[in-house]
Amino acid sequence: MYRTHTCGELRLADAGKNVTLSGWIQKVRKMGGMTFIDLRDRYGITQLVADDSASQELNEQVGRLGREWVIQAQGAVRERQSKNTKIETGEIEISLAAIKVLNAAQTPPFTIEEVSDGGEELRAKYRYLDLRRAPLKRALELRHKMAIEVRNYLDALGFLEIETPYLIKSTPEGARDFVVPSRMNPGQFYALPQSPQTFKQLLMVAGYDRYFQIVRCFRDEDLRADRQPEFTQIDCEMSFVEQEDVLNTFEGMMRTLFKNVIGVEIAPKIPRMSWYDAMDNYGSDKPDIRFGMTIKDITAKVQGCGFSVFDSVEYVGGICVPGAAEYTRKQIDELTEWVKRPQVGAKGLVYIKCNADGSIKSSVDKFYTPEQLEDVAKVFEAKKGDMILVLCGAKRKAQTMLGVLRLEMGNRLGLRRPDDFAPLWVVDFPLFEWSEEDSRFYAMHHPFTAPKPEHLDWYYSDRKEDLERVCANAYDFVLNGTELGGGSIRIHQADVQSRMFEILGISKEDAEYKFGFIINAFRFGAPPHGGLAFGFDRVCALFGGQESIRDFIAFPKNNQGRDVMIDAPSLIDAVQMDELFLSSTAPAPEK
Ligand code: AMO
Repeated sequence: MYRTHTCGELRLADAGKNVTLSGWIQKVRKMGGMTFIDLRDRYGITQLVADDSASQELNEQVGRLGREWVIQAQGAVRERQSKNTKIETGEIEISLAAIKVLNAAQTPPFTIEEVSDGGEELRAKYRYLDLRRAPLKRALELRHKMAIEVRNYLDALGFLEIETPYLIKSTPEGARDFVVPSRMNPGQFYALPQSPQTFKQLLMVAGYDRYFQIVRCFRDEDLRADRQPEFTQIDCEMSFVEQEDVLNTFEGMMRTLFKNVIGVEIAPKIPRMSWYDAMDNYGSDKPDIRFGMTIKDITAKVQGCGFSVFDSVEYVGGICVPGAAEYTRKQIDELTEWVKRPQVGAKGLVYIKCNADGSIKSSVDKFYTPEQLEDVAKVFEAKKGDMILVLCGAKRKAQTMLGVLRLEMGNRLGLRRPDDFAPLWVVDFPLFEWSEEDSRFYAMHHPFTAPKPEHLDWYYSDRKEDLERVCANAYDFVLNGTELGGGSIRIHQADVQSRMFEILGISKEDAEYKFGFIINAFRFGAPPHGGLAFGFDRVCALFGGQESIRDFIAFPKNNQGRDVMIDAPSLIDAVQMDELFLSSTAPAPEK
């Protein structure tokens, strides 16, 4: 038997027991004639002691041990003289009788501690060592607990977990596909699913009216802290439902997850906000509602006063930053440079300071009287000591820039605490998004999302303005400024689906080639249905108080989409290339 107990298990009540533990050596400390060893496993750390009573052989053995060696230790549990209140086994130690080295270890390239001295790249290369650290262990434990709670909740409501294939035909979710060449079908490729969207809809046609799956999805897109090329969704679909049924079911799931995974009670009713209000007031379709500082439209107040910058644009708006009137010239210059960065994209920044003495000072004093500026300040209900920051441009673009500025000011003022949770449903999305660049419509969610029944006339109209007005019963679950999930009520009639492809500029032949299977299925009795998917990694990260999803995935990829531990992607040999009928024109990668 390798062990009688784990390294996180023994307590004072176990004093006197003879035990055997196995684990990794975290640390060895010598103090006088005594040697202390911290032995670690997944469950915790237990202190081992070799003291004067230990045999010479044992003392010699202990002297040779190093960090991360795997050993088996035998001895008696006894009360510690100096207790460690920080760890659960801190009241006891093991008086060593014997040890056995199960495996020696090279010195690890970084410290395996709560906070490591290793850089990100190095830790990624030795991910299996990084995973020994407590913060990563906690993250994976949270992920496991979350998966169990999801399954329990959905199982209790009659949902069936059904697996769908990974080698499929493209599913449009707005990213590029990862593709897999087929050896048996020369020159042909599978696509890895960007989501199981079409399959879950086919399951509805098949009559499995409550489906879910904790499932891997693959998207070839630019990576960020909350994006990985392969990530996991809690993917769900239901038949014979309206938007309200879907929102209630998953509001319940999120409430249960909050309570059972991190012990947080959220409000009995999660607020809802239309996409239009979200854009107008927060400059984002995923507003962080932990704090106010909402965007106000001041176009009508500031135009026509001779300031050509404002007069020449569609929209002028601002936010009121509490207590920021104290900003110095230097700080304002720095903020102006900040909004001019390509990530924000503003051309300049106008401020209106409501000084503590009641006076008002602005960077556009030349064009506006103090009364006019006060009138603007009233729109924001600005108080003495506040500063209004103003940006302008095309309406949605200026609002988006103000949204980014609002989050930045929220960060600077410490208003975005990770342990404060403000969930929100964003609803009533437009069905289409017009791209100036490509001169065509794109589906705002995906091409299987149904138009609101009351907007069907616009849906069948050929006028761009009508199509822009069509809304969908589409919804996003937003938490603290992050989109955690999204879904919609789907199209379930073949003719409505064909019209969608037509609007998106997909020819009849192309639609038939790419999506013939689903249009066809809708001809065989498709029930009304709808659903949604949550980004499982994102839910885990936010519940764990982090912005990056990377540590909630055991083996993630870096920002270049590489797994630096196994060194993937990599070249394949010529034989494999031939078997797959492939040849490459890419330059050889640098070694
Ligand atoms: P959507 O594309 O909005 O919807 O994806 C659902 C959720 O998945 C998460 N997510 C990601 N997480 C990590 N890395 C990524 N690259 C990534 N991309 C998306 C987000 C997002 O909210 N089939 C539809 C759902 C439906 O309509 O039912 C879909 O996939 O948290």
